[in-house]
Amino acid sequence: MADFENCVSCSSSPLELFERVTAQGEKVRSLKAGKASTDEIDAAVKLLLSLKVNYKTATGQDYKAGSPPVDFSPISNNGPTTIQDEDFVDPWTVQTSNAKGVDYDKLIVRFGSSKIDKELINRIERITGKTPHHFLRRGIFFSHRDMNQILDAYENKKPFYLYTGRGPSSEAMHVGHLIPFIFTKWLQEVFNVPLVIQLTDDEKYLWKDLTIQKACEYAIENAKDIIACGFDINKTFIFSDLDYLGMSSGFYKNVVKIQKHVTFNQVKGIFGFTDSDCIGKISFPAIQAAPSFSSSFPQIFKDKKDIQCLIPCAIDQDPYFRMTRDVAPRIGYLKPALLHSIFFPALQGAQTKMSASDPNSSIFLTDTPKQIKTKINKHAFSGGKDTIEEHRKYGGNCEVDVSYMYLTFFVEDDDKLEKMKQAYTSGALLTGELKKVLIETLQPLIAAHQQRRKQITDEMVKQFMTPRKLAFDF
Ligand code: TRP
Repeated sequence: MADFENCVSCSSSPLELFERVTAQGEKVRSLKAGKASTDEIDAAVKLLLSLKVNYKTATGQDYKAGSPPVDFSPISNNGPTTIQDEDFVDPWTVQTSNAKGVDYDKLIVRFGSSKIDKELINRIERITGKTPHHFLRRGIFFSHRDMNQILDAYENKKPFYLYTGRGPSSEAMHVGHLIPFIFTKWLQEVFNVPLVIQLTDDEKYLWKDLTIQKACEYAIENAKDIIACGFDINKTFIFSDLDYLGMSSGFYKNVVKIQKHVTFNQVKGIFGFTDSDCIGKISFPAIQAAPSFSSSFPQIFKDKKDIQCLIPCAIDQDPYFRMTRDVAPRIGYLKPALLHSIFFPALQGAQTKMSASDPNSSIFLTDTPKQIKTKINKHAFSGGKDTIEEHRKYGGNCEVDVSYMYLTFFVEDDDKLEKMKQAYTSGALLTGELKKVLIETLQPLIAAHQQRRKQITDEMVKQFMTPRKLAFDF
């Protein structure tokens, strides 16, 4: 790398580099605390990541807050490309410098969760008698906490329930938002269990520049997209926080129990809150934690306080549930189990996830067939070669190719997917052809979703969102 000669890591001392990383980390935190725009935060995080890479290049050590470099030796003279990439994941930011996306195996180690391995997938298949969902087969749901306990309960005919959610930050949902819901619907069908879906309109009011009224409106609009995934109305309760908290006889009691047992220091450590964050944000994690406990829904579970909960979610939500699992035994409840998914990559590349605020990074559920085609052709990052001759000769790289990644989410047939992978890797299939397959996969899928959504009436939304007994006796 030519400009490696001039890079900061070579012209600054390790201590100076350390201080730059520390200062940039502070900056990211204060941008998040203030009302900085997503763009501004993303840019600051990117810089933070590259400073960390520089630090590692110069010292051979990972940056550790509070531990300045002691003894350093450059790990290679090949430049930054040989360095392990750094990922940044929290509930608000997902950023990596690696085109292949976040290193999920490392994340499992860092978060202390467990990998969904072949053995667990086989057990799910054995117990349910159903072919495991392709999200499981392909490692899209890749990590878990205590899933074996849920399977034990199921085998012993003990009930459990599902809990997932969505922060209604805008009217427009994109295909990435559907991933947890598609999977949750499969789980509901396969295990035949109750499901609660939390719409955190309060969270979005607190974090975004939104009025309460707008947040409530978005919750209803998002509920329609969620219902369109095909949930069973007799087995599903969808609730908006701003609506349900005030009318439930159980929910708020659990919120305060949680609040009494988690300190400011703990949430600061988990979520990076600072002294200048509003108290609404600081106490919000208790509200996302409460649905993990069955006594938050007396209309469904009567007085049962010990129904196990399973939470399918994207891995960035894990901090909330680490806190929940930590507090649960201290307030006499069971820890919820979790299934974690990887992120749905942005069209521009797997360095970050799709964002609803950047229209070109996402395929929206409202996009027309033409918009889908244009976005994919124009913006989907390609792992193909620059010229047809080179592509034919060297083949494309599926590991960084966003169109291929999307196909792994939406093509159910394993053989078909494998054939495409081989053809693309060998160079027989060109980028334009691969994109065409993706376009022709997504267009009917989204059109069908729009069709189903159109059928959903306000009356149906109201029914889903009315606290009531579900088709299960407790
Ligand atoms: N905080 C989540 C978001 O912003 C919404 C959410 C609430 C959630 N409860 C959940 C997501 C449970 C997954 C599981 O989207």
